[in-house]
Amino acid sequence: NKRIFSGMQPTNRLHLGNYLGALRNWVKLQDDGYENIFCVVDLHAITMPYEVDRLAPATREIAAAYIAAGIDPDKCIIYPQSAVAAHSQLMWLLSTMTQMGKLERMTQFKDKAGKNAERAGLGLFAYPVLMAADILAYKATHVPVGEDQKQHLELARDVAATFNTRYGVEFFPQPEPMILGEATRVMSLRDGTKKMSKSDESDYSRINLTDDADAIATKVKKAKTDPEPLPETVDGLKGRAEADNLVTIYAALADTTKAAVLAEFGGKQFSAFKPALSDLAVAKLTPITSRMNDLLAHPDEIDRILKRGADKANTIATPILKETAEIMGFWRT
Ligand code: TYM
Repeated sequence: NKRIFSGMQPTNRLHLGNYLGALRNWVKLQDDGYENIFCVVDLHAITMPYEVDRLAPATREIAAAYIAAGIDPDKCIIYPQSAVAAHSQLMWLLSTMTQMGKLERMTQFKDKAGKNAERAGLGLFAYPVLMAADILAYKATHVPVGEDQKQHLELARDVAATFNTRYGVEFFPQPEPMILGEATRVMSLRDGTKKMSKSDESDYSRINLTDDADAIATKVKKAKTDPEPLPETVDGLKGRAEADNLVTIYAALADTTKAAVLAEFGGKQFSAFKPALSDLAVAKLTPITSRMNDLLAHPDEIDRILKRGADKANTIATPILKETAEIMGFWRT
């Protein structure tokens, strides 16, 4: 029984990294015989300062983006994390078998907490435990994510193994990370050593799924590069982070390899490559944006899908939570 679980936070809008590193792979995997569960992780989104009035609309927007990108709500479960109580409840149980030292080593925590880790919230610190609970509440076997989530998944595997050992059961499966495609780590357009991220101050650092053709063209045009022409081989991208990133993005969007992109553009200047890249990005992304806008014109339809998804998710997670509590020895009638 193969079951996929993955999710995205409803913070701002999705960007090209979220799309190429995760969402697009979910779409490709949905017909491969897995059961598919795609969550909008709103409980995770409140671990950083957020706008109260934007949380529910952003949750609908992420659901709309999933569907607009090609996730079929009739084949996949789509729902908000907060609508299934089992996530929070299982998180508490799992927190008792997670070492603080391991959480302290999480690079995302270190990045987000900044210099003043003493003042970081417990929720931000415990973020990976909730993530483990998300996955284990469904006994998910496969988790398609971008490269940056690998460390969190290792922790989830660790927690699953600790539970099984401590209680002498083979209860939780070890969730397998699926880090797929050419663009597992899309970098900032302004700095090839930094991840493309929702929290970057400069909007020129990322392409948002909601950008129109003009915005995409401007951002690609302004993207940082070096003065050399594109290399002929993938090896030639070494030490050229920005060039590597743009070629990677092109390859992923065109569903080909970096080698194939360089076979076409090797030796050419960025002035020739960039317009081709922005045309490709526009062709691939703007249909998603317009489908998303169509969907968002009918928020009650999205709510209906989310409600149905939450009901189905509850049907799976609630018995697993109950069994977990039984294994742990809790009182029950
Ligand atoms: P979030 O919302 O930060 O990211 C959502 C997905 O997008 C991927 N991603 C990227 N991939 C490539 N290049 C990038 N620059 C880039 N930026 C983001 C992320 O790897 C992720 O797959 N903690 C998770 C959400 C989550 C989750 C889960 C995922 C909560 N519970 C359980 C899987 C299973 C996160 O990073 O969300």
